[in-house]
Amino acid sequence: MCGIVGYIGSNPCVDVLVSGLEKLEYRGYDSAGVAIVRDGVLETRRAKGKLINLKRAIKAEPTDGLLGIGHTRWATHGAPTVDNAHPHRSGEIAVVHNGIIENYVELKRELVGHGHVFASETDTEVIAHLVNHIKTARKLSLVDAVRAAVRRLHGAYSIVVVDASEPDVLVGARLASPLVLGFGTDENYLASDVSAILNHTRDIVFLDDGVLATVRAGSVTLTDIETGKEVEPVIKRITWTPSMAEKGGYKHFMLKEIHEQPRAIADTLRGRFSLERCEVDLPEIPVTAEQLQNISQFYVIACGTSWHAGLVGKYHFEDLAGLATHVELASEFRYRRAPIDERTLVLAISQSGETADTLAALRDAKARGATIISICNVIESSIPRESHGTLYTHAGPEIGVASTKAFTTQLAALHLLAIRFGHLLGRLAPEGVVRELEALLHVPAMMEAELEREHDYASIIRSWHQVHSMLFLGRGNLYPLALEGALKLKEISYIHAEGYAAGEMKHGPIALIDEDVPTVVLNPMDAHFAKVRSNLAEVKARSGPVLTVATDGDAEADEIGDFKLTVPDVPETVLPLMMSLPMQLLAYYMADFKGTDVDQPRNLAKSVTVE
Ligand code: G6P
Repeated sequence: MCGIVGYIGSNPCVDVLVSGLEKLEYRGYDSAGVAIVRDGVLETRRAKGKLINLKRAIKAEPTDGLLGIGHTRWATHGAPTVDNAHPHRSGEIAVVHNGIIENYVELKRELVGHGHVFASETDTEVIAHLVNHIKTARKLSLVDAVRAAVRRLHGAYSIVVVDASEPDVLVGARLASPLVLGFGTDENYLASDVSAILNHTRDIVFLDDGVLATVRAGSVTLTDIETGKEVEPVIKRITWTPSMAEKGGYKHFMLKEIHEQPRAIADTLRGRFSLERCEVDLPEIPVTAEQLQNISQFYVIACGTSWHAGLVGKYHFEDLAGLATHVELASEFRYRRAPIDERTLVLAISQSGETADTLAALRDAKARGATIISICNVIESSIPRESHGTLYTHAGPEIGVASTKAFTTQLAALHLLAIRFGHLLGRLAPEGVVRELEALLHVPAMMEAELEREHDYASIIRSWHQVHSMLFLGRGNLYPLALEGALKLKEISYIHAEGYAAGEMKHGPIALIDEDVPTVVLNPMDAHFAKVRSNLAEVKARSGPVLTVATDGDAEADEIGDFKLTVPDVPETVLPLMMSLPMQLLAYYMADFKGTDVDQPRNLAKSVTVE
């Protein structure tokens, strides 16, 4: 999520670090810092906000050396302040980290017990103290101390560590968060992203999970974190342009972000449940069982894609928690006199946390006594700041204007919240909690598999890229996905599209159907399968071309429709997550084929801060 650069070599490195961080600026960040080993002494410079502030801090108090690490932070634990900015240090050891340490609270408690004093609210700082503690207590080298420390971490990390008492080594390790190694002449690099070091080297190793890198100016050793056995580095010569590197080799940010979803969803679930205790833990949402039992109204307010997430949430809240849920467009809700009192609960959903309509609706409800909770991707943005509690999605910065990973992480967060509410209200038995959690936990791996099947789209796109209008039909919790599929297509390919509840087809949209208006029918084997299949037949009977999005193995779908995409056979509550991929990829390939500006579609903005 954040950006990492590390250097060891024969040249002063502060410029390499800062210019590397500049190359990572496109990812979004809210603070930055460097740690340099100068003449055996560790020096850090950190600043809130943009890199210019870090540059000013370095100019005010110059530092440089032959070993150093740098970081741009996108806040996840703790506000974007100087104290929370990386690198974090413990004595002469400094660490930069991307990812989330799930068990940081326990580790912190243990380290405080050993006398360590913490200076930040971050999960990262425990790594610095843990490495220091292990190194001192067991009299280990830095490399061995890092190996022992990371074996105690649960969660996801890519880290780079320096120690002023061992100025000839830079140590990196990764688990479920990217880290690359770059080879130079008498100098080597570690970074979260190729683009940070592409100006210096094109000989790159993409480190695998569970690998520890011991990097010196003239040598590199990779070992397995668990066994300590050496791993052979596979060096790739990267020919990407800087702009390709920013996109991780993908043609567009949107495609990269579609592919990041398995990791983003796993990060959003991480550390928020216990299968042993059959519970979802969301201490950030201060809503009690008593409060839920006495709710007068429960409103979900949002705009755009976040509103579609809210509509899926309604099914979760009603099915799992028995909570009547009103999902409202914030731009409408803010001007209605909907009943609101002290017993009203409002959930605001916003990836940016800054959408003007959502914020205004929230403020109004709050002024009238409602309790406000939110789901948001940007820590300390306006909506979380004005809420009584926020469940952050951990999607990382989303650059493509059309929302993808922010949407699916909202779906995962809503599902968690509904499980929590269901449990608090006594509607969801422990087995039910476990069933829902297991369904969610399988999603990232299943998405990975789905993302391999991109070639399925080619023939559809070739046939349909010139159409002017399309319909998307879905039912139940896939009705919001029909809306989202149509919105994605409109946003980036500029093809007019309408999403409809399949049962409504005969009340209007059926009049549009002819051989020039294709219909995408979301028709997996769920509770509505037979009814939606009848709708599909009605479209075919009127010569409408059909793309069926069916369950894997549904052979009949091949015969009845013109094209077929499939999703795996998953429990209904996670079908919207799996159905998101075909909706996103269809829109993406259609737009790419047409040559539109996928990442910056005309007239649209990522964050709509005006009414
Ligand atoms: C803009 C973005 C959409 C987003 C909507 C709501 O229109 O382009 O992707 O869904 O705003 O934004 P929010 O940040 O509140 O989720």
